[in-house]
Amino acid sequence: KKRVVSGVQPTGSVHLGNYLGAIRNWVSLQNTYETFFFIVDLHAITLPYDAPQLSKATRSTAALYLACGVDTSKASVFVQSHVRAHVELMWLLSSATPLGWLNKMIQFKEKSRKAGDENVGVALLTYPVLMASDILLYQSDLVPVGEDQKQHLELTRELAERVNYLYGGRKWKKMGGKGGALFKVPEALIPPTGARVMSLTDGLSKMSKSAPSDQSRINLLDPKDVIANKIKRCKTDSFPGLELDNPGRPECNNLLSIYQLVTGKTKERFFVQEVALECQDMNWGTFKTVLTDALIEHLHPIQVRYDEITSDPVYLDNVLSEGARKAADIADTTLRNVYQAMGFLRR
Ligand code: AQP
Repeated sequence: KKRVVSGVQPTGSVHLGNYLGAIRNWVSLQNTYETFFFIVDLHAITLPYDAPQLSKATRSTAALYLACGVDTSKASVFVQSHVRAHVELMWLLSSATPLGWLNKMIQFKEKSRKAGDENVGVALLTYPVLMASDILLYQSDLVPVGEDQKQHLELTRELAERVNYLYGGRKWKKMGGKGGALFKVPEALIPPTGARVMSLTDGLSKMSKSAPSDQSRINLLDPKDVIANKIKRCKTDSFPGLELDNPGRPECNNLLSIYQLVTGKTKERFFVQEVALECQDMNWGTFKTVLTDALIEHLHPIQVRYDEITSDPVYLDNVLSEGARKAADIADTTLRNVYQAMGFLRR
């Protein structure tokens, strides 16, 4: 089976964008691939953060993975910092990462500009090396990536090739290594429903955990009245009727797409999306009621499962330690080989 790895940062509440863009796809991927889904807590400290909140958000994110349908009999679920090899491999990889590669990363430029010099730690710059370590440790074949992570995955691929060239191949064989390449070079997996969910208050920016206003996102754990209120107050436009795919109507496109994704009404009829037909003559008031009901109906079972899972803390602890054990088995083998190939004295 091909191997897939992916994760969400515990930097705040998991929202509809994380769910429709990532977690929901994992639930179908786990049936076809050998999957590793982790909570990337080490990445969550690259910008200033609230320490007492980190462990809470980590547990809650893990519980949400399970509540959304990630099945631990198929996938390994674990916390990144529980598998020490991630940080160790990162150090080894950083020695082979040219600074120029990191300076070119668009996300670094954007996030450092927004955060201001005082708040930019070195970790924000070296973040892609940790991400490369997350992927390469597991000899992953495929990595689901959204548009904003493509550049980081490309860096991971180049780094894998560079380390394979510098330390793998014949040199490594001579040192007793098995096989030629130290790392598999991973490919991007573009999810079938390439959902990019946009903010409720601005159809041109993505829905995000770090946006200051909670009104801009639907969190998976939002109660019914909060969902209703957010949809009631979300940004719309004043065009007549509703439509998908009109670039001049980003909010309309976003809200209809969300409706489409949570109801599963994606089939084309006479080349027109079912949702577009259903909603074309609605006004905003009618549509908002329909959308609110659909969101509440879709999120309710997830919230019920979340409550069940978190009512027994021992269960989640067991899932996470078992996941970390399985992950460490694979990660430690890769790490040992890299140490050996790079010439370190064996323990
Ligand atoms: N709005 C979105 N639409 C679709 N997919 C999204 N993802 C995030 N936002 C959307 C996907 O969720 C996964 C995990 O994201 P992450 O936690 O690693 O960080 P992120 O991409 O930076 O997500 P956020 O929520 O927007 O966090 P902040 O505010 O901290 O930047 C990824 O697969 C991502 O594509």
